[in-house]
Amino acid sequence: MTTTDTPSTEDRPAAAPDTTPVLRARGLVKTYGHVVGLDGVDLDLFPGEVLAIIGDNGAGKSTLIKCLTGAEIPDQGEILLDGERVHFRRPQDARAAGIETVYQTLAVAPSLDIASNLYLGREVRRPGPLGSVLRLTDRAGMREAARRHLTDLGISTLQDVTVPVENLSGGQRQAVAVARAAAFGSKVVVLDEPTAALGVRESGQVLQLVRTLRDKGVPVIIISHNMPHVFEIADRIHVQRLGRRAATITPRSHTMTEAVALMTGAAEA
Ligand SMILES: Nc1ncnc2c1ncn2[C@@H]1O[C@H](COP(=O)(O)OP(=O)(O)OP(=O)(O)O)[C@@H](O)[C@H]1O
Ligand SMILES: [Mg+2]
Repeated sequence: MTTTDTPSTEDRPAAAPDTTPVLRARGLVKTYGHVVGLDGVDLDLFPGEVLAIIGDNGAGKSTLIKCLTGAEIPDQGEILLDGERVHFRRPQDARAAGIETVYQTLAVAPSLDIASNLYLGREVRRPGPLGSVLRLTDRAGMREAARRHLTDLGISTLQDVTVPVENLSGGQRQAVAVARAAAFGSKVVVLDEPTAALGVRESGQVLQLVRTLRDKGVPVIIISHNMPHVFEIADRIHVQRLGRRAATITPRSHTMTEAVALMTGAAEA
């Protein structure tokens, strides 16, 4: 079995050997007091791929994606988007650059309806002075667009976009958050445990959404503890252990058992 930090061509089905990663991180360090969250992590996301991140609890998966998406600022290291160094100070900076993220702790506004949640932070104003001066939002327009987005994405569990999100099930809330990321992520979509709270059918829909995004050319980073999901959806798998990248493998190069051994340290890369 082979494990490489620099992926071979075989590991990157959609990418040529000299392809620039869409997203690249080198030597990311993040500490919280005495706790080391990240201890010099490298990550590469290539065009057109689904990259899964796996690792035990506390391995640094969420911290890694927070640093990549502006929710945390790394103490050290560099992040490149399309080969250009970026310095995200806030999640809005990453969103403006085309990176949409669904964090493990969901950020939805429970009292707002589904359509408003989809457009949170990027509300569409009414045309003319009603919008530009009075800042009135175009509710009807947003609802119509929200319905279209959800249909395009094949999400069928959310029938009525005027329902407040607080009335939805946990899985449906998750679907709203994933739909928002999928609708607006123009360069990268990042999902931290998107299927953890979902039933079988909703999980299947999220995985299908990930495939749809990849097929549209948007690479996806997905964190999951669910090995069958990871092996079903991922082109490559970043194994995170003790704040570092322990290995990069593929569903063809390794079995699930071998992947778990790398995660826990029972096997070395
Ligand atoms: N805000 C914080 N303050 C203090 N320590 C933190 C903070 N965020 C993360 N950590 C610590 O950093 C390490 C990595 O945490 P992280 O949340 O990235 O793990 P994870 O791989 O996402 O785990 P899980 O699978 O449980 O979601 C852990 O030891 C954690 O306790
Ligand atoms: Mg986590």
